[in-house]
Amino acid sequence: MRVVVAIVLALAGLVWAQPRFPDPARPVAAIISPAYSDEKTRDSRGEAERAMDRLGITPGVRVADVGAGDGYYTVRLARRLGPGATIYAQDVNAAYLGRLDARLRREKIAGVKLVLGAPRDPKLPPGTVDVAILSHMYHEIENPYEFLYRLRPALAPGARIGIIDLDRRTEHHGTPPALLRCELAAVGYREVGFASLAPADGYLAIFVPPAALPPVELITACAP
Ligand SMILES: C[S@@+](CC[C@H](N)C(=O)[O-])C[C@H]1O[C@@H](n2cnc3c(N)ncnc32)[C@H](O)[C@@H]1O
Repeated sequence: MRVVVAIVLALAGLVWAQPRFPDPARPVAAIISPAYSDEKTRDSRGEAERAMDRLGITPGVRVADVGAGDGYYTVRLARRLGPGATIYAQDVNAAYLGRLDARLRREKIAGVKLVLGAPRDPKLPPGTVDVAILSHMYHEIENPYEFLYRLRPALAPGARIGIIDLDRRTEHHGTPPALLRCELAAVGYREVGFASLAPADGYLAIFVPPAALPPVELITACAP
């Protein structure tokens, strides 16, 4: 009996000893759809072309479409980068990934790697991504501090991440830019670009990851 108690206490100690990421100090939006708006309207306003140009998406660049949903960015990345490109289409929802797989087959786009992530961990392979695109999904991430922390190992030297979102409160499916900057900075990411995507909706904010991640216990949540 004493041995069992000792083991339980030791295990509990291990759990307590794990540093905890702070909870976001603002609402997290619910996942309600695999797409932001309709693709025809987005294209008529030049969204993907403008975002991909600003992010330097040229052949040879390895890209992850994080929170790919129906794959608005995935298919446009595939068209721009051509066969043989490294493109990850990542999502936390297995059913959405199934729909995207069917779409890629229908549109005869081969070679895209589908990745099922966890709410707090994108689960992308280490050192394989030059550009991560997070389009209209940042405000849905359960814990952005932990997610950004766990995204870092996937990013190759010189990598950047592009976050596309609306300038509105997180509960209304957007992220105010000042809040976004604060949350990214809390995990050591540095902003290197910001642009409106007008006449398309929203903005594109570009960040580079830290050389070394901060200790988890030093990460503090940002006020909305
Ligand atoms: C509004 S859709 C946007 C889809 C696509 N990126 C676009 O621009 O149309 C948001 C997507 O993000 C995904 N998502 C939400 N939280 C996520 C997380 N923690 N990790 C990966 N995907 C996530 C949802 O499942 C959904 O497919």
